[in-house]
Amino acid sequence: MSDKLIAPSILAADFANLQRDVEMVNTSQADWFHIDIMDGVFVPNISFGMPVLKAISKHAKKFIDVHLMIVDPDRYIKEFADLGSNMLTVHYEACTHLHRSLQSIKNHGMQAGVALNPHTNVELLRDCINDIDMVCLMSVNPGFGGQHFIERTYEKIKQLKTLILEEGADTKIEIDGGVTDKNAEKLIACGADVLVAGSYVFKSDDPEETILNLKNSINK
Ligand code: DX5
Ligand code: ZN
Repeated sequence: MSDKLIAPSILAADFANLQRDVEMVNTSQADWFHIDIMDGVFVPNISFGMPVLKAISKHAKKFIDVHLMIVDPDRYIKEFADLGSNMLTVHYEACTHLHRSLQSIKNHGMQAGVALNPHTNVELLRDCINDIDMVCLMSVNPGFGGQHFIERTYEKIKQLKTLILEEGADTKIEIDGGVTDKNAEKLIACGADVLVAGSYVFKSDDPEETILNLKNSINK
């Protein structure tokens, strides 16, 4: 079994054919579903909310990785647990009491993730890295699919990997935004464990084959 994971972002799916696209991910070599929840406050865009996640959950047969781009996410932790989320990722920039949020996520039976905007230094996570199951490094500014990858991300992955090792933590690194076949291998070489891919997968001619090729390229 390979250990580097692909998480297609449903944000880039065809919402009028959502069940078809969820089934595509089910039968593909993808590992996780990546679900982007945006509130129009933390980010300048609104994606979808609970009813849509409920519909996805009903058909999804793989791990559900929920990325909350919302202010004050503590308000909804229980609801996301009840909807079948396996990983709940909150933004560092959206949490006043990050440690408390992480505890609450775990108390609700989910793995706890923290996302960092491109401008946020990884060092800020040192004091709670042992409580974080996954750090999601944003490689674009959150809010939209289809943006260009920010090159500085490679350096941030290396810094974060060093921090994780120094602190003896068991924390995965996820990269979110602008992932394609052009940067996937280098991201893994720098220390990434999970690659989110939205438009690169769903806008391709054959999404299932695109997932297969991406997965093979990072697990040689
Ligand atoms: C951006 C979202 C991403 C987005 C990635 O705010 O967090 O998950 O869907 O889309 P692509 O892969 O198209 O950059
Ligand atoms: Zn995301």
